[in-house]
Amino acid sequence: MTAPLKHSAAITVDVALGDRAYDIMIGRGVLDTLGTRVAALRPGVRTAIVTDRTVAKHWLEQTERSLAEAGIATSRVIVEEGEVSKTYAGLEKVSEALIAAKIERNDLVIALGGGVVGDLAGFAAAILRRGVDFVQVPTSLLAQVDSSVGGKTGINSPQGKNLLGAFHQPVLVIADTSVLDTLSPRQFRAGYAEVAKYGALGDEAFFTWLEANHADIFSGGAAREHAIATSCRAKAAIVSRDERENGERALLNLGHTFGHALEAATGFSDRLFHGEGVSVGMVLAAEFSAKLGMISEADATRVERHLASVGLPTHLQDIAGFAQEGLADADALMALMAQDKKVKRGKLTFILLQAIGRAVVANDVEPALVRDFLQQKLSG
Ligand code: GLY
Repeated sequence: MTAPLKHSAAITVDVALGDRAYDIMIGRGVLDTLGTRVAALRPGVRTAIVTDRTVAKHWLEQTERSLAEAGIATSRVIVEEGEVSKTYAGLEKVSEALIAAKIERNDLVIALGGGVVGDLAGFAAAILRRGVDFVQVPTSLLAQVDSSVGGKTGINSPQGKNLLGAFHQPVLVIADTSVLDTLSPRQFRAGYAEVAKYGALGDEAFFTWLEANHADIFSGGAAREHAIATSCRAKAAIVSRDERENGERALLNLGHTFGHALEAATGFSDRLFHGEGVSVGMVLAAEFSAKLGMISEADATRVERHLASVGLPTHLQDIAGFAQEGLADADALMALMAQDKKVKRGKLTFILLQAIGRAVVANDVEPALVRDFLQQKLSG
């Protein structure tokens, strides 16, 4: 694509799931249409907005105003920011608040926030009165292109991330691209790793377009909407074919086997955001694919160059506190990967590349090969 893009009023992406199909609305200002869309979808509905303190400061008033102008009654549930809320305690707080707000079977929960709020509020909705519908209003780039779409909801167990949850599809996703203007550059970059992931796993032309247009995406130009819509279309297509991850949905985990181990090694802390772990993990997956002779060294380098060009970490050594115990240790990283959901009977599952734009699920990877590879990267 060479002609400059223009901002469009709104882009609609359909998630084709039969009687559970829903729309993703993408564009600058679409948050203001939330009320009329909800009223059209569910006349007379009551709603409860679940959000966190930071998002509430920026976007709660505007969200409530949109609902009020459409005559929709609403209450609010505000949780602490971050993974601390994606816990049994956080779920109890949200569930009890929804019951106290008298949210009933035909009402709607509205998840206003990033991935944590979407996963938590979606799971609370899934179990409240055995299932209440919910709307996703994602406010981070990562949530707009990944976690708000596809119905994965849940909380963490002290024994691991996302170990409790449900597939519960939203009835509507409102992705207002202007809300991303208040994200820190680091948070925006971390979300961008998931955008690049869609190019790397299934769409070489999109990856090439990102290489040329990433500056406009970061500055909030029309390329941002195009990138988010392309990412959502890619995810919607995969989810509509494999909602419960029995096959190709696993491709969306490109970079995540390595990435989750790195997140665990850094204590799921601010040392490494999820998207940053995915960035390093994606480069490792590309380099591992090259080591196995599946792609050329040049293709692996191309993945690394693009992610590095937007300022994402791409090497283990880029991670804050790299030299600390657990991160610079191949055996410790292997142990963390062995605890992941992606292990079956001792063999690791990786998403590997056959080309940029063509990923495959490899579910019989010998741990010894991965260990040697990591050892080489750590000493390199
Ligand atoms: N984030 C990966 C998925 O939704 O399947």
